[in-house]
Amino acid sequence: MKTIGIINGPNLDRLGKRDRDIYGTQTLADLENLITIEAEKHNAKILFYQSNHEGEIIDKISEWAETKLNGVIINPAAYSHTSIGIHDAISGANIPFIEVHISNIYQRESFRHYSFTVGACKGCIVGLGLDGYLLALQFLIKGN
Ligand code: DQA
Repeated sequence: MKTIGIINGPNLDRLGKRDRDIYGTQTLADLENLITIEAEKHNAKILFYQSNHEGEIIDKISEWAETKLNGVIINPAAYSHTSIGIHDAISGANIPFIEVHISNIYQRESFRHYSFTVGACKGCIVGLGLDGYLLALQFLIKGN
């Protein structure tokens, strides 16, 4: 059985309430439910984590680096555009990470066009809404 971690960064606890025109109306609980349904189809186990704090996200990546996770899907949210610390935690973890952004960050303000974290990830999905998490999950379960 594959085990995949999901990390959602700052303000994603307010999915479905914040900027609904950009992020949609589904909540974090709805997202976790969709991921759980997809994981059950593939007999995969999912560990969910959300935090609004950079250091806590780094601590969680370090914790998971010491376990036998098969992959991590991370939406570092605003920290993508600021955090060398999260980049370094990902690159030191020896686990395949996929970065996901719900919105297409390249169609938005220029300060969202650069991601510090994506360079440490195997790949990235942007702009496909919550489906981005499900596609990333399928990829990690396939084991590439
Ligand atoms: C986001 C895009 C980021 O620029 C933003 O700060 C977020 C969410 C996305 O999923 O589209 O909080 O990561």
